[in-house]
Amino acid sequence: MKNRGGPALLKGRHMKAIVDETLCIGCGLCEEVCPAVFELVEGMAKVKVADVPRGEEDCCRQAEDDCPVDAIAIE
Ligand code: F3S
Repeated sequence: MKNRGGPALLKGRHMKAIVDETLCIGCGLCEEVCPAVFELVEGMAKVKVADVPRGEEDCCRQAEDDCPVDAIAIE
């Protein structure tokens, strides 16, 4: 199928969250802000999902902003 591009395609793109484990200090803020995406495992944040679920994008960005050591990246 051709011509699927444009804003609709951009909008439908999946967002991914990544935690840099060399930076994370296990403060737990990300899990608090966006528990659908982040969880703390043995004092380290893990991303629970391959793609950020629909509707969780805002809290995921919030977690990225709030992380005190900038360990969260979103792509
Ligand atoms: Fe770690 Fe930042 Fe979350 S320090 S626990 S990735 S808010």
